[in-house]
Amino acid sequence: MHTPALRIAALFGLSGLSALLAPLTLAQAADAPAATVQQLYQTHCAACHGTAMQGAVGPTLGAHTWLHGAPTRANLAKVITQGVPEKNMPAWGATLNATQIDQLAEYIAANASKPAVAVTPAAAAAAAAAAKAQQNIPDLNGFKLPKGFHISVYADKVAAARSMVVSESGIVYVGSRKAGKVYALVPRADKQQADVITVAEGLENPIGVTLLNGALYVGEISRVIRFDQIDKHYASKPAYSVLKVKLPNDKWHGEKVIKASPDGKLYIPVGAPCNVCETEETQSARIYRMNADGSGLEEYARGVRNTVGLAFHPTTQALWFTDNGRDEMGDNTPSCELNIAAKPGLHFGFPYCHGGVVPDPNFSHDRSCEEFEAPVAKLGPHVAPLGLTFYTGSQFPPAYRNQAYIAEHGSWNRSTKSGYSVRLITLYNSKVVTDTAFVDGFLRGDEVVGRPVDVATLADGSMLISDDYGGRIYRVTYDGK
Ligand code: HEC
Repeated sequence: MHTPALRIAALFGLSGLSALLAPLTLAQAADAPAATVQQLYQTHCAACHGTAMQGAVGPTLGAHTWLHGAPTRANLAKVITQGVPEKNMPAWGATLNATQIDQLAEYIAANASKPAVAVTPAAAAAAAAAAKAQQNIPDLNGFKLPKGFHISVYADKVAAARSMVVSESGIVYVGSRKAGKVYALVPRADKQQADVITVAEGLENPIGVTLLNGALYVGEISRVIRFDQIDKHYASKPAYSVLKVKLPNDKWHGEKVIKASPDGKLYIPVGAPCNVCETEETQSARIYRMNADGSGLEEYARGVRNTVGLAFHPTTQALWFTDNGRDEMGDNTPSCELNIAAKPGLHFGFPYCHGGVVPDPNFSHDRSCEEFEAPVAKLGPHVAPLGLTFYTGSQFPPAYRNQAYIAEHGSWNRSTKSGYSVRLITLYNSKVVTDTAFVDGFLRGDEVVGRPVDVATLADGSMLISDDYGGRIYRVTYDGK
């Protein structure tokens, strides 16, 4: 299991950590509960209420002024069942059965009057490690790359760095998570490093960035905003306009990447607002596309649990995307996916079938995996594949060109961590041939020094990797030596 603070770091990006460190008080978790209810809580509730019930997006479930009546077992069961949908507390009646809800109510009731206590030593240590990672650049010799490749730091102090996009004039725009900022990385004269300029702040988890017709589009949880002629204005706190498009804005899996297609449309996913739940009759678990002004919104693909990486194949122009597999089926299943949506209207299986071959134990109903699009590659369980790019530069040797690269953020709930790597996916005619490590060393023994989020290519053919754990951007170059 991950320590709580690591999980928190994963969820809220780095800037969130300093906020967590400041008030060194967390509500105490209930005493030694049954493993199952604890797991239920960690899987379904910890994302918003904190791994130790200390609160995060949702309120603490320790001593506080309870919003929905005294924290009796009955009251708690009621609020858990019905949720507070307008305030982003999901209704669990559809996902959990009455026994599970009652167990959770009992578990929370036992914690409800516990006063805030000092953060646990393990959580404090993990938070301190993450804060240190943000401060200190890890030993670059600890990274493993193929022969002739080198890694350096391109930009530092890019808190919670997420998606990247490179403009024609060589400026890299970077989204972020809890930091709420969009950055511009402006290359220095020697082009080996870049200065970091804040383009915008106070945004709602603006993880997604893309460029179309000279404008920078940013995906927030509840809206898409546009900065016109961004290369001219990035340094002067530019104004933005809000696209007239309405998409679901649940907080869970609600962060939105965005990608301009070669034919000038914008593709944007809406994740499932749950670990696993029925989404067929909703607007979630889909990829949408729309025109550059937000008009003409249409569903492009469905059955997509939570994609955080879209890319268009350089020759076929087909949309490829990563998808994060569900949790709570153990360490080794199901696999995360790499998919191809070459045309509109395809169904990728969620919530019925995972990883192309694993029927969901509760939601498969009578559907079989054969009905759905199978992934082009199974990437492994819990690796958390995020950003995806096709390398079309010419600095890397031919064997590395026109291949896919995937940033794997790494597992948060697997007993042995997996992911924490940039993968090289070699292709032959849109079939996957191999999946091997391209950059390893973000995980050193048990120590996390970084979590890859996105990959992008600079005009000189070097490759950038964003890391939201260390809050920096790495650059990979090739000189054959
Ligand atoms: C997507 C985020 C999210 C998830 C996941 C979530 N909650 Fe909540 N929860 C909230 C928010 C936000 C509120 C506050 C609602 C309000 O303002 O009325 C809340 C409120 C509550 C309350 C009432 C607190 C009070 O002060 O009265 C309880 C109890 C609760 N949640 C339990 C749970 C349990 C149990 C789970 C897991 C099965 C869970 N929540 C999962 C966001 C979440």
